[in-house]
Amino acid sequence: MPAFTATSPGKIILFGEHAVVYGRPAIAVPVQQVYVRVVVAPRIPGKAGDIVLQAPLVGMETSLASLPPEHPVATTFRLLFEHLGVKQIPPMNILITGTIPVAAGLGSGAAVSVSLIRAVSGFLGRPLDNAATNALSFEVEKIHHGTPSGIDNTVITYNQPVYFIKGRPIETFHLAAPFKILIGDTGISSPTSITVGGVRERWNAEPDRFEAIFDQVGEIAQSARRWIESGQTDALGSLMDENQNLLEEMGVSSPELEQLIRAARAAGALGAKLSGGGGGGNMIALVTEDTAAQVQAAVEAAGATQTILTTVQ
Ligand code: PMV
Repeated sequence: MPAFTATSPGKIILFGEHAVVYGRPAIAVPVQQVYVRVVVAPRIPGKAGDIVLQAPLVGMETSLASLPPEHPVATTFRLLFEHLGVKQIPPMNILITGTIPVAAGLGSGAAVSVSLIRAVSGFLGRPLDNAATNALSFEVEKIHHGTPSGIDNTVITYNQPVYFIKGRPIETFHLAAPFKILIGDTGISSPTSITVGGVRERWNAEPDRFEAIFDQVGEIAQSARRWIESGQTDALGSLMDENQNLLEEMGVSSPELEQLIRAARAAGALGAKLSGGGGGGNMIALVTEDTAAQVQAAVEAAGATQTILTTVQ
């Protein structure tokens, strides 16, 4: 069996995080500048079922058998082998590398599960199609997020912009014109399951208030889609600002995110917001050819540990 490699991009949520868990629409796009890559190679010599994993970025070097069963990687293997009905597992070495920061809202968890599913199923000569890859990685997302919407695994599996509504078939849409987004990392790791759980507690305590916030976020995502489809992308800036206000009301922003967001706006960004689970992780700002460099410098000066300029197209 020859070695098999699969690579997945990162992602950002442009509009609608958290409200998407409650059935409102959201928009997410892949980010090609960051990636996760999984290489599966035959383990020689090795006995059946012998699977050794290396993930240098998170300091992991272990056998699959010694991972706790609820570990996302162990879960991915279990679900994949169940799905394929594989009984005799050939010995393999798995190398996971990449540049997507962990627990930062850029989809590292989904990128690992999607890449693993593709690389291992390909190695076994039984490559899964997108629908099956997406469905299995959604099950793994439940470990990361508790009650995920499925937006991360969907945008990463299909590797294209998506207009996403939980439980509905994937909807892609037409971008009339490309636009630029500057991504800034607070450097603070913030597991999505914690922020998603926090929103759920506050929603339980004040359901009417939170439903009204989610409705407003859903309307923003709908308007954003219209502006993107008609090429009036500058108008997305004020929608990002409005979405950020609502995320602050939900209690998922943080002082560090707001510092980067303020710096981006002051340096000429058309709008800015947190992206993903919040509480830390990354913010995004809408920039133009002319403002990109100055916004990037301002966000770095305000404390971003990493910035990425990406073109949505
Ligand atoms: O994985 P993150 O941090 O990009 O967050 C995903 C978006 C949420 O809406 C917060 C959760 C979800 O499952 O949709």
